[in-house]
Amino acid sequence: MIFTIANTKGGVGKTTTAVHLAAMLARTSTTLLIDGDPQASAASWAAWRRDVGRLPSPTTTCLIGKAILAEGKDLAAGFAHTVVDAGGRDSAGLRASLLLAQRAIIPVGASNFDAAAMTDLLEVVELAREYNPFLDVRVLLARIDPRTKDTGEMLTYLAGQGLNVLSARVCERVAFRRSTGEGATVQELGKDNHATAEMEALFDEVTK
Ligand SMILES: Nc1ncnc2c1ncn2[C@@H]1O[C@H](COP(=O)(O)OP(=O)(O)O)[C@@H](O)[C@H]1O
Ligand SMILES: [Mg+2]
Repeated sequence: MIFTIANTKGGVGKTTTAVHLAAMLARTSTTLLIDGDPQASAASWAAWRRDVGRLPSPTTTCLIGKAILAEGKDLAAGFAHTVVDAGGRDSAGLRASLLLAQRAIIPVGASNFDAAAMTDLLEVVELAREYNPFLDVRVLLARIDPRTKDTGEMLTYLAGQGLNVLSARVCERVAFRRSTGEGATVQELGKDNHATAEMEALFDEVTK
C-alpha cells in the first residue's frame, strides 16, 4: 500500500504521522519512507534513528517535485509499503505525492484556521482524483484538545465537505514532540500510554 500524508498547511502533524506510520509498518513489512518536503524533517528523524541504532527502521529517501511520482513508483515497487511525507505547500511535489498514493491521510487541526486552509487542499485533492480516481482520502483530526468544542465544529465542517474522517484521533501531547525528536515513536519511548493507544488505533484503521 502506498500512503501519502498531506496537507497544504504546515505544523498540522504530517511528519509526526508519517514517521509513526512508517515505523509501525516496518515492524512487520519492508517499508519505504519518502521525504517529499524540502525541509526534510522525516529524513532528520530517520538520521537520528540510525544514530541511536533503533530498529526496525524504514528505508528512507528524499525526493522532490515530480520525481516523487516517477522515482517513487519505481522505488515503491521494491517494498511492501511506502509512506510519503508530502511537502506543506501546493507544490509539484504535493501533487505528485497524491498521484502516487493509494491512500491519502490528511492531518488537520480543529480550528477555524485549519478549516479556512482546507479550501486549496480540497482543490488539489480534486485535481489528483481526476488522474488517480481510486485515491482513498481520509482526514485525521490531529493535535486536538478534546476538552474544547472545536473538534465537534470541525467534524461538522468536514462532513459538510463530504470528507471521510478517521475515527482515530491524535491529541496534542508532549510525547509526540519528545519521541520524534529522538528518532523514535511514542510506543518506543513508552512514556505516554494515551499517545501510544492513539497511534496504534490510527495504524489499525488505516491499514485495514
Ligand atoms: N500530536 C501532537 N502533540 C504535540 N505536538 C505535536 C503533535 N504532532 C506534532 N507535534 C509537533 O508540532 C510540530 C509540527 O509537527 P509536524 O509533524 O512537523 O507537522 P508538519 O509536518 O505538518 O509541519 C512539531 O514540533 C511536532 O513535534
Ligand atoms: Mg513536516
